[in-house]
This record gives sequence, C-alpha cells and structure tokens, in this order.
Amino acid sequence: MRFDVITLFPDIFPPFLEQGVNRRAFESGIMQVKLWNLRDYAQGQYKRVDDRPYGGGAGMVMLAEPLFQCLTAIRSERGETRDLCPLIFFTPTGRPLTHEFVQNWGSQRGAILLCGRYEGVDQRFIDLHVDLMISMGDFVLSGGEIPAMAFLDAIARLQPGVLNSDESHQFDSFHENLDGLLDCPHYTRPDIWQGQAVPQELMSGHHENIQSWRKQQSVLLTRQNRPELFGKAVSQAKSQTKN
Ligand SMILES: C[S@@+](CC[C@H](N)C(=O)[O-])C[C@H]1O[C@@H](n2cnc3c(N)ncnc32)[C@H](O)[C@@H]1O
Repeated sequence: MRFDVITLFPDIFPPFLEQGVNRRAFESGIMQVKLWNLRDYAQGQYKRVDDRPYGGGAGMVMLAEPLFQCLTAIRSERGETRDLCPLIFFTPTGRPLTHEFVQNWGSQRGAILLCGRYEGVDQRFIDLHVDLMISMGDFVLSGGEIPAMAFLDAIARLQPGVLNSDESHQFDSFHENLDGLLDCPHYTRPDIWQGQAVPQELMSGHHENIQSWRKQQSVLLTRQNRPELFGKAVSQAKSQTKN
C-alpha cells in the first residue's frame, strides 16, 4: 500500500515514520510513504505556493497550480487511475474520520494525502481533483500534517503483522467486538500504587467475572463520556434482541 503525501513541511514526517508501530509497517514494506515537497512545484523566483484571498480577509490561500503540478507528477509516477488512488484532502470542513472508515480501507488501497496550510486550498483545485475530504474533529490545527500522520497511523496499526498481536486492536474502542462501546480501563503491576488497589474482579482469575466487569466499565465510560455513542449502542442492542 503506497501513500504519497503533499506537504510544505516534509521534515515533520520522518521521525514519526521511524518509531514504534509505524516503523514496523513502513520498514516491512507493508506500507510505503513518499513525501512530496509542494515548494518544488512552485513557479517563479520566489517559489510561491500561496496568495491573498479574492474578496479580501485575513490569511493566505494555497495556489491551485503548484498543487496540480505536484499531483500530476505523483499520478504519472504511480501510473494508476484515480479510482485506485484517491486524493484525500485533510480539512476541518470534511467528514469526520471514523474507525469504520479506517477498517474498511483494507490492505489494498493507497492514496495521495494533501496537507493544507494557511486558510486552505483554492476551491477550484478541490472541485476538480479532490476525491475525499476528511476532518480529524471539530477543532482547527495549523496544518494537515498531523491529520495525515494520524490517518497513516490508524491504517498502519490495522495491517496484519504490524501490532505485536493481531488480536490487540480487536478489543480497542469502536471495534465491532465491543458492540459500539468504548474500551474498558486497564491496570498492570503493582497490585497497589499510591494507595490505589487494582479492582478485585481483575485479580480473581475468574474469566467470566473479568469479562462482565470489563463490559460494565465500558458501558459506564461510554455513557459518561460519549452519550451519543451509548444511545446508538443501546438502540443497536435493542434491535438485535427484536430480530
Ligand atoms: C488553519 S487550517 C485552515 C482552516 C480553515 N480555514 C477552516 O476554517 O476550515 C490549515 C490547514 O490545516 C488542516 N487542518 C486544520 N484543522 C484540521 C482538522 N480538524 N482536520 C483536518 N485537517 C485540518 C487543513 O489541511 C487546513 O487546510
């Protein structure tokens, strides 16, 4: 699976790609990443990649032409049609990234990832060339590099052989094994730390009691922190009981 990243700050990526789980995914060749410095596709003496917005207002807008030149170079190197290799633009105006999306990504599809900067990208480039717009949440970052890294990380850890145990992600928050609930709290040694004991249920060695405690904690946590997810999980459970 190959990802091509268009960015004005390619140096941000290597430290991230060279650590932990991501390193395993990229060093093993399961995933490949190629960084493209947008500045290399800018024209003129000053290699401009942005300009003032039509209509006035604060901030700058990324120019369509260098983006197009860079995209053309990537597509010609990849030699794939657009449907096999979508262009994803990270933007707060996109659809929120979900576990479902990451899981459905599978192990075949690569993509071109566009990291925005400034106020954003000339809309004409988006209209003509962007296939998917993805948001990391209801907040604004200064650039799309962190969203691109988050996206790559989420895809990498689901690839077979990347995590130490392929089972470990199957009990993470949002996984279907958890029936729409968040993960439960986790504890490790020592038994008592700063006066706080590990819950007795986890020390019991009784598999069913442990499972039932974990489920109960997941329910409590989801209800408290994500009432909308909790509501959805309850309706799903009800409709499954009816069927
Ligand atoms: C300062 S932001 C631009 C925000 C834009 N004017 C808006 O209000 O929607 C610069 C770039 O950071 C990235 N970015 C910022 N927040 C993001 C988020 N929540 N999800 C995905 N990308 C984000 C995008 O690539 C965006 O083009």
